[in-house]
Amino acid sequence: MLRVIVLGAAAGGGLPQWNCACAVCQAARRGDIRPQTQSSIAVSADGARWVLINASPDIRQQLAATAALQPQHGVRASPLGAVLLTNADVDHITGLLSLRESQPLALYATPRVHGVLAANAVFNVLGRERVARPALTLNQCQPVLDGAGQDTGVRVEAFTIPGKIALWLEDPDAANFGSVAEDTIGLAISSSTSASRLFYLPGCAALPDAIKARLAPQDSLLFDGTTFTEDEMITCGVGSKTAARMGHLPMSGDSGALALWQDVPLRRKLFIHINNTNPVWLPDSPARAAIGAAGWQLAHDGMEFCVE
Ligand code: MLT
Ligand code: MN
Ligand code: ZN
Repeated sequence: MLRVIVLGAAAGGGLPQWNCACAVCQAARRGDIRPQTQSSIAVSADGARWVLINASPDIRQQLAATAALQPQHGVRASPLGAVLLTNADVDHITGLLSLRESQPLALYATPRVHGVLAANAVFNVLGRERVARPALTLNQCQPVLDGAGQDTGVRVEAFTIPGKIALWLEDPDAANFGSVAEDTIGLAISSSTSASRLFYLPGCAALPDAIKARLAPQDSLLFDGTTFTEDEMITCGVGSKTAARMGHLPMSGDSGALALWQDVPLRRKLFIHINNTNPVWLPDSPARAAIGAAGWQLAHDGMEFCVE
């Protein structure tokens, strides 16, 4: 069995975002809906040792809110044994800087994302003598080891998905801004004893049949829920980028996530990495009704479930 805790369900900026007064951010400030931190999950095979998937800028708040991830034994110890990265987006790597303080960890990423970290000396705060940086092997199920080399019982298979290089690394003159396949991966996560898997795809720009074919009906899915509509940022008046320009699929529309996953039966379908402009955050919105009618749920901070 795999235990899953949603540490953060929002996309970059969180909900509310510091400089945003869109309808959803204002609802969060009024207290009509609950604030949400930037996306990250933690998984565990034994309930004792935990693996963090993406390190959110909000990690300090997330750890403070999650008893399972706080020191249980010893004066300087953490149940957190490893961190896996799905890309180098600022909302997925900056939390690494808060994991300094001489804690043994294993930091897993593709060689491409490891290269981004290695090129930024600030990440040396995670000293290599304590924080190993193993590469994820694509298309192969591998055990996740902790900083001491012990098997956490968590298993992961990484695979490339259509996406985009991190916004802060975009090359304006290059095709698709210089993105390469290993910039964005999806993860199929399980425990050594579970029969089904959790697929974690918090950033995804398209959905080829080959990705859908990886999932079996007993599997669970946490999928990119950045925007509801392709032009949401524009119609909300907060930006000029479409979902596609940001490397994301909208939820709605003929080529949106609801339509593309419709013919794939799964144990659970959850959206995560949900932008603060997305009207699904509002319980009475037509958008929320639409995802519910299609069999989807929203992840939220503090949500827990088990993958058997
Ligand atoms: C994204 O998900 O598109 C990025 O996190 C955006 C950003 O870097 O702010
Ligand atoms: Mn993001
Ligand atoms: Zn907003």
